[in-house]
Amino acid sequence: MSTPSVHDVAKSAGVSVGTVSNVLNHPHKVSPSTVERVQNAIETLGFIRNDAARQLRVGHSQTIGLVVLDVRNPFFTDIARGAEDKAAESGLTVTLGNSDESIEREAKYLDLFEQQRVYGVLISPYGDITDRLDSMRKRGIPAVLVDRESPNSTFSSVSVDDTVGGKLAAAHLLETGRRRIAFIGGPMAIRQVSDRLTGARQAIDDAPGASIEVIEIDALSVIAGRAAGADIVARAPDDRPDAIFAANDLVAMGVLQALLMNGSSASAVRVPEDIALMGYDDIDFASAAVVPLSSISQPSAQMGQTAVELLLEEAANPDFDRRQVVFAPKLVVRDSTAPTQ
Ligand code: RIB
Repeated sequence: MSTPSVHDVAKSAGVSVGTVSNVLNHPHKVSPSTVERVQNAIETLGFIRNDAARQLRVGHSQTIGLVVLDVRNPFFTDIARGAEDKAAESGLTVTLGNSDESIEREAKYLDLFEQQRVYGVLISPYGDITDRLDSMRKRGIPAVLVDRESPNSTFSSVSVDDTVGGKLAAAHLLETGRRRIAFIGGPMAIRQVSDRLTGARQAIDDAPGASIEVIEIDALSVIAGRAAGADIVARAPDDRPDAIFAANDLVAMGVLQALLMNGSSASAVRVPEDIALMGYDDIDFASAAVVPLSSISQPSAQMGQTAVELLLEEAANPDFDRRQVVFAPKLVVRDSTAPTQ
């Protein structure tokens, strides 16, 4: 028979894992009757607390290591700001690392944070780092995934349902009368990009007469968006899409620059009259664009705050139930997708 876990004790006593943790660490916070119920469950089940994991946390710094995919993207700096504000409430600081969508750079930051014995790690993963994070946790450094759910709840995570977000974006373009939609995004190895495309396909596949063209780019950047937009302007007008869904706002900004400032007057493109344009993230620049950009908003600062809350929970109780916090994306409609006349 496997050794009973803190979850078994909680279930047996009819309380939450957090309450069991409080009985073990802060019994003064719990009513005497509940303390007795939990202690009875501990004795009945023969539970032994995981003091080894707790000892491993001795000597850790008061700094949280945060690794993001692209520090140029305001979405991630908003996450960092939310994380920093929540961390400061507990006397912690945040060190920001930029993986730049590189597995090697991501690994270097995890090495650095482990050498610095950080309080914990928040990471928007690019590579498959489950084993690495698991070994770090065994050495007393917990991790929370940011902007990515954790398969089978190996870690806590905070994310947005990007499939729902992609479907929202495409459904909005269809509602405004568009039918030839191009998705510009990549690399497809980035789960957020592939999920958004999946959602867009779901909406378009259900719409009679609608089609989707996928234009893969090598980075979620303004430059990559601008190049893809220039290719579209170079096409004959009848070969162009009547709407573009860009995988994030930075790409959409590059596409917008190319559409509006490329080609002779004969090939110039009007947005939204000729081509509607959707982004994703709703960063501050979206509303301030030369044609205010419709987008899908994510609660980035709140995601950063929630990630720190999850990390604090796990640091206080290594056995606590990992939680997957998933926020809903929201459609923000602006001039760039005004309906066709
Ligand atoms: O960097 C990857 C993208 O996924 C960002 O633009 C943001 O949308 C994140 O969710």
